[in-house]
Amino acid sequence: MFSVRNRFTLGMTLVAALGLQSQLLRAAGKDIVIGVAGPHTGANAPFGLQLWKGAEAAVKDINDAGGINGKKLRAVKADDACIPAQAKSVANKLVNTEGVSAVVGHFCSSSTIPAASVYRENNVLMITPASTNPRVTEDAAFKPRDCSGITDAGKKAKCELQNHSVIMRMCGRDDQQGVEAAEFVHKVLKAKKVAIVHDKDTYGQGLADAMKAHLKTLGQQPVIYEGLTRGEKDFNALVTKIKAAQADAVYFGGLHAEAGPLIRQMREQGLKAAFISGDGIVSEEFVSSAGGEKFVSGAYMTFGADPRKLPNGKKVVDSFRKTGYEPEGYTLYSYAAVQAIAAAIKGTGETRDGRKLSKWLFDNGADTVMGKQNWTQKGDLQKSGYVMYVWDTKGKYAEVGNKL
Ligand code: ALA
Repeated sequence: MFSVRNRFTLGMTLVAALGLQSQLLRAAGKDIVIGVAGPHTGANAPFGLQLWKGAEAAVKDINDAGGINGKKLRAVKADDACIPAQAKSVANKLVNTEGVSAVVGHFCSSSTIPAASVYRENNVLMITPASTNPRVTEDAAFKPRDCSGITDAGKKAKCELQNHSVIMRMCGRDDQQGVEAAEFVHKVLKAKKVAIVHDKDTYGQGLADAMKAHLKTLGQQPVIYEGLTRGEKDFNALVTKIKAAQADAVYFGGLHAEAGPLIRQMREQGLKAAFISGDGIVSEEFVSSAGGEKFVSGAYMTFGADPRKLPNGKKVVDSFRKTGYEPEGYTLYSYAAVQAIAAAIKGTGETRDGRKLSKWLFDNGADTVMGKQNWTQKGDLQKSGYVMYVWDTKGKYAEVGNKL
């Protein structure tokens, strides 16, 4: 039998061996491999497709322009289906089998958070285009140190490297998004009775809670605060309850697969209350999951300012449209994440050390289809924000344009 100490030593040796294996893989490869992790199957596959389309196009454009430091980029798909355990397992596979230099993803915060622990342990840069829960970058174990007193240059450089998280985002956070929604509901819609519904998941409930907390600072309490279950399609009992409470606004924290049936059943029961949600419904699949444009028409949604309108992205947007694909939702965020990774690899000549890549991004920022981006040490964007969109009778979304 192994003693506890021996088992610990064996465990640590295995961890070190796996770390070394992933470093060797990353060093040996002919191509620079980038993992594109998200829900490529399941109810959230439309979002996985956005991530894949964006990353695939960026990889192609960068390779067409000559690649990076004489090497080509190669994107590999990793399907987490928005299932946390699966996310952790595909993260391990990306690191230890595929030898990725960096990861674009994941999508659902509840998958990104467990996967991030794998990337942290293996020092692999991860940029999520879409995970907005604050906990993605608020890692208790990440504590930047004061390196200013260190005189030895090598030790100082090492200390400074530790000060940049390898977990980064290309999107905003729900503690901004929830505030924007609450302000809109309270000040623009002037709703008197607000029902708050969430899907009991990290993202959905987190966003609903952020919205509720800000509503409270505006002096308003919801008349209903309830969770529904992901995967279910019949929310009629909940709608009946919301109707009985005479809600004039329904805020939903969650994803399109549940938002669609919820708004449809609201309208079918004759509930005219405004419907407001967040970036979890930013896919035309929201329309299909509701069963048609007439059900989603008038639904509000918070999302970052439309990146399709930025001059930096015009060429890329046009080339997507030429292929018949509309770069909706997080497509351009994913494209931008690959651009940032490529810039850091080019700038450092590094394909293994995630911290060197993230430090480079912190020091230099990156030019992307979404404009110049800069990050905090924690990996959040220095500038990000949310605007309100509304879905129309044609099943498209556009900015409301109300200045709050
Ligand atoms: N913003 C959504 C999440 O964080 C996609 O899960």
